[in-house]
Amino acid sequence: MKPKVFITRAIPEAGLSRVTAFCDADVWPDDMPPPYESLIQRVKGVEGILCLLTDRIDDNLMDAAGPQLKVISQMAVGYDNIDVAAARARSIPVGNTPGVLTEATADLAFALLLAQARRIVEGVEYIRAGQWKTWQPKALLGVDLSGATLGIVGFGRIGQAVARRAAGFNMRILAYSPSLTQDEAAAFNAHRVELDELLRESDFVSLHTPLNNDTRHLINRDTLARMKPTAILVNTARGGVVDQEALYDALRNGVIGGAALDVTDPEPLPPDHPLLALSNVTIVPHVGSASKWTRDQMAIMAADNLIAGLKGEPLPNEVRA
Ligand code: DGY
Repeated sequence: MKPKVFITRAIPEAGLSRVTAFCDADVWPDDMPPPYESLIQRVKGVEGILCLLTDRIDDNLMDAAGPQLKVISQMAVGYDNIDVAAARARSIPVGNTPGVLTEATADLAFALLLAQARRIVEGVEYIRAGQWKTWQPKALLGVDLSGATLGIVGFGRIGQAVARRAAGFNMRILAYSPSLTQDEAAAFNAHRVELDELLRESDFVSLHTPLNNDTRHLINRDTLARMKPTAILVNTARGGVVDQEALYDALRNGVIGGAALDVTDPEPLPPDHPLLALSNVTIVPHVGSASKWTRDQMAIMAADNLIAGLKGEPLPNEVRA
């Protein structure tokens, strides 16, 4: 008898085929995530859950699944949607997919930074609106990256990968993470500073922290007010790291110069959300890891974590928080 598992969405075939070879898999068929009540129904009696960042996996859901539940495997590096303490209390290991999405996410952070600095989206809209009449000496002027200061908040794998890119663009790099040392920062041509100094000094601030109780609304009215009035904020971490109402006010009132966001709070952002009406914001729909190779690797890692947990073996990548 194959172990029964629930997969909360159709994941790339590279991972799905590994799961179905070993398990009796129930795959949620819709493009939209299962509503919480459906999740509760579908996990009853399963030994494993393979989930995405859109699924709330809490204490109540683990109870509903039942005592045979052996493993929770998330196809993402972030796991703020999972009550890891509740899983630990039941000795259920939780897996995630670090490493494989580092470069893709750093690429997107840099793409957003460049897009906002050089007003790429505004330029595209300008042409589409028929406004491109000639070469203009003063139209669509952006800011230079070379010589500018980039502040990286959260200096794990993705923050470091962003620093590597920034060095190639001749930027001065400041880094903040509570436990980061000067030597660790120096290995990436960065200077370790406190958050306050980073906010004060940076022309660009890029966020790379997980979302947890320490980082929720780390960027708020107070921290935004400490940034330069020309500063550009880039967020490819989690929407909840930024107080979005405060960000809207800051962008509208010139407290900072612009923002480029891959993540929002909530997701999706309603199409009539006031942030979308601002010309100094670029927003994309949480696509940091959205390259073919990366999503295949994430699906494979999630499958391998799931299968290891079902076999009672250590997960290749277990959340240790
Ligand atoms: C993650 O893995 O946490 C990302 O946000 C998904 O791209």
